[in-house]
Amino acid sequence: MEGIIPVTENTFWLGVNDYESKLFEAIWPLPDGISYNSYIIIDNKVAVIDTVKHGFIPAYIDKIKNLLKGRSIDFLVINHIEPDHSDAVKILSDLFPEMQIIGNEKTANFLKLFYNMEKNIKIIKDNEELSLGSHKIRFLITPMVHWPETMMTYDETAKVLFSGDVFGGFGSLPGGIFDDDVDLAFFDKEALRYFSNVLSKYSIMIQKAISRVRNLDINFVASAHGVVFRKNPEHIIDLYDKWSRHETENGVVLVYASMYGNTERMANAIAGGIAEEHVKIKIYNLSKTHISFIMPDIWRFKALILGCPTYNTRLFPLMENLIRVIENDNILNHLVGIFGSYGWAGGAVSALKEFAQKGNWKLIEPVIEAKCSPTEENLNNCETLGRNIARHLQ
Ligand code: FEO
Repeated sequence: MEGIIPVTENTFWLGVNDYESKLFEAIWPLPDGISYNSYIIIDNKVAVIDTVKHGFIPAYIDKIKNLLKGRSIDFLVINHIEPDHSDAVKILSDLFPEMQIIGNEKTANFLKLFYNMEKNIKIIKDNEELSLGSHKIRFLITPMVHWPETMMTYDETAKVLFSGDVFGGFGSLPGGIFDDDVDLAFFDKEALRYFSNVLSKYSIMIQKAISRVRNLDINFVASAHGVVFRKNPEHIIDLYDKWSRHETENGVVLVYASMYGNTERMANAIAGGIAEEHVKIKIYNLSKTHISFIMPDIWRFKALILGCPTYNTRLFPLMENLIRVIENDNILNHLVGIFGSYGWAGGAVSALKEFAQKGNWKLIEPVIEAKCSPTEENLNNCETLGRNIARHLQ
């Protein structure tokens, strides 16, 4: 049946592809959609791992019924209760009243709060095992790898790690679901966009989770979004490891906003200074590119240069939003450069300086602030900033 893909002999992908939602979490653009991955292990006992988001439930239930041919679900494991993975819990519970829901203490609390569900819940402890017949599954409680209740489930028999959000990414799976079936370069990019926008705040806890899964013998990484890794499961673990260690590459991201072209002239002068030193640079105009596409490069490159006009005595609003997102992510090991302009009252550059002082940033001089239109001296200083920041990377 369409949308049922064997992962191992007894394990199937039951996920759904969301091509319709424009935004994930009502914030992050989904130009290529997203998948909500659910899995089922059919053994002497039947276990489902995570479910799908509302809007996809009828097709999802059809797939389960088609596979089970009259059998029931014995266990529903909730690795993560955020509704993109748990919206079908209530209806599954109604359809299979004997089904036990498996989670930890925090999962049980959320079940009550989200769905008013308190019955048939089996609360597991860290490392607890459950036999399904030939398959033995083990639960790893890995809190705050998005939410407090997050955990992973490891099938010791088939060596599948059902990892929840971690090791996942944006992008729907219209064809194959495996790393050897898809355009992996595209999905690696979408995984970094997902990580840098959604999960990066929890990097310390992701590191803790990775240290636990490194000891496992893994044939498949089966996350809750995106590609299932079978050819090279280490690939996605290594990427998440690198990202959550704040490991950076030499390069500069220059992010600016400009209302009338004056701040843009400054940005171009800075880029010229960087180019003289032959350092990689990515330039983004905040008014043209959504920050979700900028954050991956901010996460990736060691140096960040921010510039914008003052708007009503404060930061330009789109820059204010970017700053708030960056602060929330607690980015480490970065250099920062600052520039800006104003017409009748300043504010943007001082706000950017305050941001640099508050965070874990090494400020590279000079800071440049132009009044109305940049002077020759302002533009020369911009080139100097570009050269200085580039030289720090060499
Ligand atoms: Fe895919 Fe944290 O939900």
